[in-house]
Amino acid sequence: MKTEGGTTEQKRRAGEAAAAHVEDGMVVGLGTGSTAAHAIRALGSTVDGGCEIHGVATSFASKMLAREVGIPLRSLDTVEELDLTIDGADQVVTETGACIKGGGAAHAREKIVASISSELFIVADPSKVTETLDRSVPIEVLPAARTSVTAALTKHGGTATLREATKKDGPVVTDNGNFVLDCSFGAIGGPRSLGETLSSIPGVVEHGLFTGLATAVYVGTAKDVTCYE
Ligand code: 5RP
Repeated sequence: MKTEGGTTEQKRRAGEAAAAHVEDGMVVGLGTGSTAAHAIRALGSTVDGGCEIHGVATSFASKMLAREVGIPLRSLDTVEELDLTIDGADQVVTETGACIKGGGAAHAREKIVASISSELFIVADPSKVTETLDRSVPIEVLPAARTSVTAALTKHGGTATLREATKKDGPVVTDNGNFVLDCSFGAIGGPRSLGETLSSIPGVVEHGLFTGLATAVYVGTAKDVTCYE
């Protein structure tokens, strides 16, 4: 089965390979999206087998899935540090671990969780792998700042579009009550410095450029998994 570029099998292999590194007693960040969901399901089986872990969800969707598969949860607002986070990406450079996230509009919480984790494993199918990041960068903004941030992004060479909900009229609203601008910059030569620029714009809550955070990237293929460290 093919889901948004990669196959279910590729995503499952990546998610399960990353989840296999979770050990008894760990506090684990639970990413968002179809690939991270495979890791969450695998962790549910680990818990069923007697492994004692706690999860910290990065979105309402991952919280619901974690509950369904029986992973005990801690709330992000009570946690200072985590052992490991497993999360997906919309695009990833395997050599550096730099990635674009936020296709599921969860990147603000995803970045908080990643930033307080000792390790971040990115799980992906081969369609996500690139040499240069060039997808639109999701940028979560305060609703009142959507116009001013759009203008600032234009000044910085970007073309921003307000993300619209597919099933109803109006913009996508994040778990934090904010909007998302998807901003195209073409090929991104310096993701870290672009990220610093985006963070400096008033009204930006968080952007989807993740640099210096991933400690490993698991790419699932039809037959196996390649781990880039
Ligand atoms: C959500 C994300 C997801 O991890 C990203 O969109 C990848 O999702 P999928 O595994 O379904 O392709 O960043 O904000």
